[in-house]
Amino acid sequence: MKQLKKDIILANVPKNRINLDIFEEIDSTNEFLKKNIQSNEFNLVASEKQTNGKGRRGKKWHSPKKGNIYMSISTKNTFKSGPLSLITGIICTKVLSNISQTEEIGLKWPNDLVFNNKKIGGILVEKDIYANEEKTIIGIGINFNINGEENWWGDISELKIDDQRNVIIAKITSEIIKAYDKDHFDWVNQWENLCIHLNKEVKINNHDSTTEDGVFIGIEDDGSALIKTESGMKSFKSSEISIKGVY
Ligand code: BTN
Repeated sequence: MKQLKKDIILANVPKNRINLDIFEEIDSTNEFLKKNIQSNEFNLVASEKQTNGKGRRGKKWHSPKKGNIYMSISTKNTFKSGPLSLITGIICTKVLSNISQTEEIGLKWPNDLVFNNKKIGGILVEKDIYANEEKTIIGIGINFNINGEENWWGDISELKIDDQRNVIIAKITSEIIKAYDKDHFDWVNQWENLCIHLNKEVKINNHDSTTEDGVFIGIEDDGSALIKTESGMKSFKSSEISIKGVY
């Protein structure tokens, strides 16, 4: 396993705009950025291990020291070109696909990274105010090597790109900065092209534990899922439902 390396990560990112901290161990890279003053336009943190990694919906993110990516980027900027978490999903998928030369990595709504029908990565976007400073934090976890404690957890060990971890962090970071700088990002088409369950049957899990079947038709301009159900076409926000039946 190659160590996280500052010089490689910063090689192709605009150094005057970003501050980078690397840790051997940390509770959570998202929490670290929440608690610290934004020292540059973008602050990037990466760690070999997290002792309290956080997933979406209050879940834990299993974060052992196994050469995986645990990274977060914070910024005070507002993002003009679309929903940040979905755009970050597109960026991560494309970077991994380019480096591994495979098109087998895809997205499950709203922003799970999927390979071989298993979840190999996730994104947690948070907004926070600390010391009167408002910021957005984008947390990204990518599993290169993980013991599948749950049968839907996967990794990309078979793609043999673990020695490229620093380059992957660098590319994801520079693409996120580019996306920040853009006024427009054609993200709906790109997201739908990468979606692994477009026009397929999915199960809708409502938060009151009821379920409904439907066909995933696509996403709307705000990132909501458009699903055709027995009672008609419905639009759901990611805070309202999760979808099952994919893994
Ligand atoms: C999900 O549940 O799919 C989102 C997982 C996000 C995990 C990453 S790992 C780096 C960053 N720090 C955290 O504590 N969580 C995110």
